[in-house]
Amino acid sequence: MINSIVAKITEVIGFDLSNERSDNLEKKISSVVSDLNLKGLSSLYSELSEPKISQKVIISIARHFTIGETYFFRDPYLMKALEKELIFLIDKKKNTDNRIRIWSAGSSSGEEIYSIMIILDRLLADPENWEIYLLGTDINTDAINKAKTGIYSSWSFRSDKNLPNSKYFNSCGNEKFELAANYRNRVRFHFLNFIDGVYPSAIDNIYEFDIIICRNVLMYFSDEVRVNVIKKLRECLSIDGFLCVSPTESIHPYFKNFSKVSHDNVTLYRKRSTTEVEFQNYIMNNVSSTNSKRKITRRSTQPIKPRNLDHLKSRISQTNKKPVTPAKDDLKDEALKNKIKSLYDRSKYGEVESVIEKAGEKENIDGKVWEYYIKACAIQRKNDKALKKLNEMIEKDRINPEYYYLLGNLFFEIRKTEEAFEAYQKASYLDEEHIQTLIAVGNIYFSRGLIAKAIKHLETAKYLLVDLPSVKIIDEVDNITAGELLNVTESILGLVLRKNGTFD
Ligand SMILES: C[S@@+](CC[C@H](N)C(=O)[O-])C[C@H]1O[C@@H](n2cnc3c(N)ncnc32)[C@H](O)[C@@H]1O
Repeated sequence: MINSIVAKITEVIGFDLSNERSDNLEKKISSVVSDLNLKGLSSLYSELSEPKISQKVIISIARHFTIGETYFFRDPYLMKALEKELIFLIDKKKNTDNRIRIWSAGSSSGEEIYSIMIILDRLLADPENWEIYLLGTDINTDAINKAKTGIYSSWSFRSDKNLPNSKYFNSCGNEKFELAANYRNRVRFHFLNFIDGVYPSAIDNIYEFDIIICRNVLMYFSDEVRVNVIKKLRECLSIDGFLCVSPTESIHPYFKNFSKVSHDNVTLYRKRSTTEVEFQNYIMNNVSSTNSKRKITRRSTQPIKPRNLDHLKSRISQTNKKPVTPAKDDLKDEALKNKIKSLYDRSKYGEVESVIEKAGEKENIDGKVWEYYIKACAIQRKNDKALKKLNEMIEKDRINPEYYYLLGNLFFEIRKTEEAFEAYQKASYLDEEHIQTLIAVGNIYFSRGLIAKAIKHLETAKYLLVDLPSVKIIDEVDNITAGELLNVTESILGLVLRKNGTFD
C-alpha cells in the first residue's frame, strides 16, 4: 500500500520520492493520515484516487514532504546578482513603462520576496512613480499565512542580524519582529500548486514577470514535472525576464530555452525570444556535434593570446563615449521608439509590425525603429516581409554594418548560410569591430572546420568585450549586454579550443 500511495503522490503533486528511505516515507505518510483524521492507509489511497483531490490532502502532503526552510537574504550571491540586474532593469524601465514584476514561486513563509522588496526599496528613489508587483505563492497555506502576518523570529535573520533593527521591522517582543505594514503591503501572497495550478493566468495576475525566483523547489519534483514546471514558468516571464533557481537545481539541459547570465557564483536564466533561442541552440548544436567527432589530445590552460589587436582598443574607447546607437532621433522618433520598444519587450510582435507600418505611411521613420520591425517580422516567421524591408533600407544606406548584420541573421534563420556569411562579411568590412558579426562569422568558420579563422574572430570579439562594462547594451532591440555576449563567446571559444586540442 505504501508503494501505491507513493506512486499516487508522485502523480498528483509531482514529488520524486525515489531517494527517500522507506522508514521515512512510512513516517511521513502516517503523519498525513493522522493530520487528515483518516481511518488508515487505504483511506488516504482513496482520497488520492479521487478525480479532484481535495485541497486539504494536497496541503497536508506538501506540509509533511517538503521543508519550508527559508530566511532573509538567504543566498547573498543571488541577492547581489539580482540587485545588479534590478539596477539595470530600473534604468531600462524608467524610460518605458515604470513597471517591475517579480514572483517568488514556492515562497514558503515569504522571506525571499520580502528581501527583494527591501532591495527594491533601497534602489528606488521614487517608488510612488512605479508600478511594482511582488508576488509570493506556495502550496503550503500555513507558510502563506505566516508570510501574510510578516512576523518572524531571529532565526529568519541569521544571514543579516542587523535587519530586524532596521526601519523595515518593529519588535514585538519574544525575539519576534514584524514587518512594518507599509512594507508588508507591497507584497501579495496566495496559494498555488505548481502541478495543477493555472499559470500563466491573467485573472490571477501571473504573467509577464521580469524575475521569477523558484529556488529549492524544483528539487522535489520528478524529471518530467520539473521540465513542465520550467516550461510554464518560462511562459510567465516577459522576454528578457530572469528565472532564478538554486545552484543544485541548475542542470543545464532543463534550461536550453534560456540564455545563461553568469554572475559571481550564480547563474540566472534569461528568457529570449524563440528565434534567438533557436539561433543559440543551432550554434551550440553545431559546435558540440563537430566537437564530439574529434579526440582531444593536448592540454593547455592558457587561452590563445590575441595578436595585433591593440589598434582596436583605442577605437573602442572612443566608441564607448558615444551611445551604441547614435542619438540622432528627434523627440517624435524617440516617443515612437519607446512605444515600439515597450510592445516589443512584451512580445507584442504583431502590434510592433502594424504600429510601425501605420506610422511609416505618414512619415519618415528612423532606421532603429525599422530594426524592431524587421526583428518582429522575423520572429513571426514573416521572413519575406522582413527581407523586403531590410533590402529597401540597405538601398538607402549602403554603408550601415548593422543592416548587413541583420541581413546575415535573416539568412541564417532560413538556413541560407552562404548568403548569411556573405552579409556578415560585408558588415565586417564596414566595421571590423562589430562584435556580434565577429561572433557569427567565427561560428560559421567553426562549423566549416576552419578552426584558426574561427579562433581569430572569436578571440577578437572576446578581446573587445572584456573591456566593456558587462551591463553595457550591445544590441538595443533585444537588450543584449556585453556580459551576456562575453558568456556566449567564451562558451563557443571553449568548444573551438577543445576541438583544436588546445584544451581537453
Ligand atoms: C525550501 S522552500 C523554498 C523557499 C524559498 N524559495 C527559498 O529558497 O528560500 C520550498 C517550498 O516549495 C513549496 N512547494 C513544494 N511543492 C510545491 C508545489 N507543488 N507547488 C507550490 N509550492 C510547492 C513548499 O511548500 C516549500 O514552501
